[in-house]
Amino acid sequence: MRNLSEDTITQEVLDRIAGTKNERTKEVLSELIQHLHDFARKVRLTEQEWLQGIEFLTAVGHKTDEKRHEFILLSDTLGLSMLTVCINNSKPVGCTEATVFGPFHVPNAPEFALGADIANGAKGSACHVSGRVLGLKGEAIENAHMDVWQADEEGVYDVQNPNFTEHRARGIFRTAPDGSYRFTTVVGESYPIPTDGPVGDMLAATGRHPWRPAHLHFKITAPGYQTLVTHVFREGDKYLDSDAVFGVRENLIAPWTKNADGEFSLKYDFILNRA
Ligand code: BEZ
Ligand code: FE
Repeated sequence: MRNLSEDTITQEVLDRIAGTKNERTKEVLSELIQHLHDFARKVRLTEQEWLQGIEFLTAVGHKTDEKRHEFILLSDTLGLSMLTVCINNSKPVGCTEATVFGPFHVPNAPEFALGADIANGAKGSACHVSGRVLGLKGEAIENAHMDVWQADEEGVYDVQNPNFTEHRARGIFRTAPDGSYRFTTVVGESYPIPTDGPVGDMLAATGRHPWRPAHLHFKITAPGYQTLVTHVFREGDKYLDSDAVFGVRENLIAPWTKNADGEFSLKYDFILNRA
């Protein structure tokens, strides 16, 4: 077709992908094209703005490597990651809610026996974390695979250290027959997501701060249950209502209690949904 106009080009592009064999690919791509075109028409996108957008995405790509996930950061800060979590993780009332995965998980972290100290030199006051992993009917989930990771008191993850050699404040546990777990780590603090790239420029341009409230990450898997990727957030943190990646949920907030000896305790039970 020739002489395409603002009004006819969208349908022509959609017709051009009509032969896409995979139905889901066709559906997702069609909607993306339709929404992109509608967006450009709605904001009356100028050629200079189009180029700026292309340059921005190119910069995001250049900043990305296997350690620095700038595209994920872009998705996180635009709320797309959390929206996708919401769409895919609706659960019955009473289940622990999911939140964003984040870029600092490491596959194959070291495994520890229950009660171990995973700090391994991470900076911060000691914190004793314990609780149970249960099903919705209160049944204990034995031998659940619990992957834990967190930042230290300076808000830094082990893998962010340029001289990273050993895992710190991360590890894998298996729950006991009564579903219980316990380990010692350090008290992590709130931290800014990385801002030395185009996503940082976007936050600055839009007057946003880059901070995440203090939290501890968990990924819990058990046969017969849905995998839970979540955090426990520190009660009282000043960024709970303005998390840079929109991940805070009320039932994921818990108190870190200071003990008489100056160390801290966190107790939290996780309720998994049946698969
Ligand atoms: C995190 O919690 O580790 C995280 C999540 C999203 C973006 C940056 C960091
Ligand atoms: Fe984090």
